[in-house]
Amino acid sequence: MSSVDLIIFGASGDLSARKLFPALYQLDCAGLLPSDLRIAALARQDIGLDAFLIELRERMSGYMGDVAPNDNDWASFSERFSYISVNFSEADDFAGLRNWLDDSRVSLFYLATPPNLFAPICEHLNGSACLSGDYRIVLEKPIGEDFASSTQVNETLARYFDERSIYRIDHYLGKETVQNLLTLRFANRFINSQWDASCIDHVQITVAEVVGIEGRWGYYDNVGQLRDMVQNHLMQLLCLVAMEPPNSLEAESIRDEKVKIVKALRRIQPATVAEEVVRGQYSQGWSQGSAVPGYLEEPGSEAPASDTETYVAIKAHVDNWRWAGVPFYLRTGKRMPEKVTEIIIQYKALPHNIFGDGANIPNRLIIRLQPNEGIELSMVSKRQSLRDKLSLQTHTLNLDFRENAESDRIPDAYERLFLDAINGDQSLFVGREEIEESWRWCDSLIAACQSQGVTAKPYHAGSWGPAKAEILIEKDGRSWHA
Ligand code: BG6
Repeated sequence: MSSVDLIIFGASGDLSARKLFPALYQLDCAGLLPSDLRIAALARQDIGLDAFLIELRERMSGYMGDVAPNDNDWASFSERFSYISVNFSEADDFAGLRNWLDDSRVSLFYLATPPNLFAPICEHLNGSACLSGDYRIVLEKPIGEDFASSTQVNETLARYFDERSIYRIDHYLGKETVQNLLTLRFANRFINSQWDASCIDHVQITVAEVVGIEGRWGYYDNVGQLRDMVQNHLMQLLCLVAMEPPNSLEAESIRDEKVKIVKALRRIQPATVAEEVVRGQYSQGWSQGSAVPGYLEEPGSEAPASDTETYVAIKAHVDNWRWAGVPFYLRTGKRMPEKVTEIIIQYKALPHNIFGDGANIPNRLIIRLQPNEGIELSMVSKRQSLRDKLSLQTHTLNLDFRENAESDRIPDAYERLFLDAINGDQSLFVGREEIEESWRWCDSLIAACQSQGVTAKPYHAGSWGPAKAEILIEKDGRSWHA
C-alpha cells in the first residue's frame, strides 16, 4: 500500500484542536498511524512550525483531560509535522503546498474549514497542480444548507474528484456503537428475523445534548437543530436501523441500502405537519446546577425575534414493506437535562398472553451511543419461587462494550474515521445521493412548517423540550423512553 500524507486545511481552527489532532495523537500513541505518515498543517497565520506546535499542544490539552499529550509521545508525534501558511482564497499561496507534496505518495486533503472555502480550495488545488498524484479529499459537514446548495457543493467536488476519492464525514458513523449496530443487525440471525413491522411497534431515536449553542450564534441561527443534527446524524442513525441487509460491507453496498431508506421516508405534508413536527427553542433555565441564558440572550445574539429551533421532534414513516405502519419518533435538542444518544426498538405486545397481567411487557432493545455505550434487551422471565409459580420479572440482557474491549478508553469517532480514510475504506463515509435526498426530505419539512406557521415553542433550558413533544407521542398511546 502507498504511503500517505495528511494535509489539514484549517489546522488552527476549533475542530482541529478539539477533535482532529487529539484523534491523530491517540492513534499515534497506539501505534496505529503508518510510521512514515507526514502531516502538513495549513492555516492562514504566518507563524513557524514551533510556535504552531506549542499553541496546538496547549489547546489540545484543554480538551483531552487525563490523556493530554506527555512529553515523550508529543516529541515523536511532532516529528510528523510541517506547517504551511496559506490563505485558502489565494491561488498563489498554494505553491508552498505543491513543493511539499510528493506525488509518489497518497495525498489526503482534509478540509476542516467553513464550507464557503470548499470551492476555492478545490479550484486552487487543481490550479496549482496539487492534484497530479494519487489523492483523496475529506470534508466536514455542512454540505450545503438545502437540496439546491448541497447539489452545488457536490457538483464542485465532482469537477475535481472522483466519488471514490471523496470522504464526507458524519462523525456519528465513527462512533463505536453505531458500527456495532450493523454487527448487531447483520451478524445475529435472530435479531434480524424479528426486525420488521410484524414484531416492532415503533422506533425512537433521541439525541439530547446538555450544551447550548456554545458561542456559535452566527452559524447556528441560520441553521437550527433540524439542519444541524437531523439532516445528517439522526438521518444516518435512522438509515442504519431501517436499511435492508447490504450485500457486503463495501461502501457502495451500504450506501445503496441507505439511500433507499431516505427515498422511502414519507415527505411531511402541510396537512399533517402540525401533528408530526414539534419545534422548540430554549428559554432561560438551569443546566446542571447553573443558571443559563435563553437562546435569544446567548452571547452574539443578533436577532431578538429569531424563530430558529434548538429542539425538534418528528414522527416519521418509512414507506416500504418492512416498516409499513411503524412510526419512527425522532427528537433532538440542546440544553436538555442530560447528554443521551440512544435508539429504542420497542417490540409489540404478545399476540396472546397465557401468563396473566404481569406478563405482557413488550421487549425493548436499547442501543445506547452515549453515555455508557452498550446494548440492552429487556426480557420477561420467571422469578425463582416455589410459593408463587407465576411470578414474572423483567430482566435486562446487557452487552457492556467495555467488557473485553481493546482498551479502557472508548475511541473517539474521529480515530476510526481517520484510520479508514488513511486505509482508503469509505464504508463509514456518506455518499452524495444520501446527502442530497436527505436535504430534499428536510426541505419539504421546513416548507411545510413555514406554510402552516409551525413556530418554535419555548421550553426551559434543562427540561426535556416543549410539552407538545410529549403530546406528539402520547396521543399515539406511547411515551418517550426516560
Ligand atoms: C455536531 C453539531 O455535528 O454534532 C453540534 O454541529 C453538536 O451542534 C455535535 O453539538 C454533537 O456531537 P456529539 O458527538 O457530541 O454527540
